[in-house]
Amino acid sequence: MKDIFFCPEESNFYANCIENLVLRNCEQSESIVEFGSGDGSPVINSLLRNKFDGVVHGFELNTSAWKTANSTIDEYNLTTKYIINNSCLFQASQPKAKYLIANPPYLPAPDADIYMPLLFGGMDGATVTNDLLSLDYENVLVLISSFSHPQSTITHAKEHEYMVKNFVILPLKFGYYSSEPKVKNHIEKLRNHHMAFYSGEYYFLAGVLFQKNQENAVDLGRELTQVMTSL
Ligand SMILES: C[S@@+](CC[C@H](N)C(=O)[O-])C[C@H]1O[C@@H](n2cnc3c(N)ncnc32)[C@H](O)[C@@H]1O
Repeated sequence: MKDIFFCPEESNFYANCIENLVLRNCEQSESIVEFGSGDGSPVINSLLRNKFDGVVHGFELNTSAWKTANSTIDEYNLTTKYIINNSCLFQASQPKAKYLIANPPYLPAPDADIYMPLLFGGMDGATVTNDLLSLDYENVLVLISSFSHPQSTITHAKEHEYMVKNFVILPLKFGYYSSEPKVKNHIEKLRNHHMAFYSGEYYFLAGVLFQKNQENAVDLGRELTQVMTSL
């Protein structure tokens, strides 16, 4: 299990965001694509707690995580609702879907040689998240960390014609992966350049629903920036 992402607080928050920002808005049998399924627990838990007629197509590069997810999916008879590929979404032919969802790799570091290289989010932590916002899905739910250059993501989303439809914030303590000295020291440097925001042991994790621009819709981008840069 050591090489599978493990942070129950974060995974539970992601599950709640999936339920409140995505599943409750799904009308008919919508299709959802997920980047980085991990052990599958967030989607599995949210499917068990909600009525959802569609299919979630997950992508997970870590083979151990993918195997664990599949055995839990089997156990709960969700094989027709949650199908995970052991591959990278960016390199696959991307399935059509109304929603793209992810708790993406967002750790900033000088390079990917960290405890879990698949959690590397580029030098500023926002690279994978911003790439997900370039895939042209109509609705995108992503978790964004306040120490991963949040403004770059909000700006990138705007440039790709997304507005912030809704968001939820969780104050989170630096955990096992973000406390690794190589990562933590890099985050400190980013803070000096106003690219990382945290206070003592705490940072903010936001569950953000982006939606391609719609006329007359309210864009909460400014409010999100204010909160994420307030620490
Ligand atoms: C922060 S973890 C989230 C896991 C799970 N969704 C959760 O919230 O518990 C990010 C996951 O993305 C996976 N990942 C990283 N790069 C990937 C890629 N290019 N394609 C697919 N999965 C990737 C990692 O292996 C890891 O399991």
